Amino acid sequence: MGLLDRILGRTQDSKKEAAPSPSEIAAFFNEAAKDEEHFPSTIDPRILHVRWILEHLGDVNGKVVADAGSGKGRFAKLVKEANPQSTVVAIDIATAMLQHVPQGVEKAAGSLTALPLATESCHGVYATESLEHAVDIDLAIAEICRITAPGGRIAIIDKNKDHWGRFDTPSWEKWFGQKELESKLKRHCRKVESRPISYWEEETPDGLFLIWTAVK
Ligand SMILES: C[S@@+](CC[C@H](N)C(=O)[O-])C[C@H]1O[C@@H](n2cnc3c(N)ncnc32)[C@H](O)[C@@H]1O
Repeated sequence: MGLLDRILGRTQDSKKEAAPSPSEIAAFFNEAAKDEEHFPSTIDPRILHVRWILEHLGDVNGKVVADAGSGKGRFAKLVKEANPQSTVVAIDIATAMLQHVPQGVEKAAGSLTALPLATESCHGVYATESLEHAVDIDLAIAEICRITAPGGRIAIIDKNKDHWGRFDTPSWEKWFGQKELESKLKRHCRKVESRPISYWEEETPDGLFLIWTAVK
């Protein structure tokens, strides 16, 4: 996207409205929790987004994993099932989302920008399509990295800025450049990598979704 796109308001950088407050964003998602079609409580375990999170976390039995911006805990459920001896904590700003989190997964209300877990308390932290809502992205990344123990693993799945405009988005939503998020993670972590991913094995990634992985 170039200058013309920006002038015509076709990039996220051209959105000028001030972000709503955290309580307004929480209210939006508390209402959205009623919409099971767009905010589902389960995910097909064959979807590659699940596989890449599980693969990057590795064996987390006996360890603590945080799902930052968990929604209804559809990823957390599968992380717990794959690692029955782990403690998986679903964290979300919207308490109505957390009401759907299944038994066996711990839950904690809180913001990505002030995660309610102790420093270096987690072996793994992941965020799927939630960082895009955090508004203060640098602070959210600092928080994800703060609660991760040295040697712990971080995975973020989110949308690619180059595909901005494919959907209607709330005014505060941000998508990310591949290198942009890599460099933010490199402030806190080593072994930072990223790549485009698809939903299904037989599909070539179309560039909309990216995964960033890191080791602290
Ligand atoms: C698109 S949903 C994704 C949910 C889940 N990660 C998934 O993939 O099913 C975005 C979630 O981020 C949560 N969220 C938005 N802003 C947040 C913030 N600042 N801190 C924590 N959670 C937030 C919303 O309440 C919502 O549940």
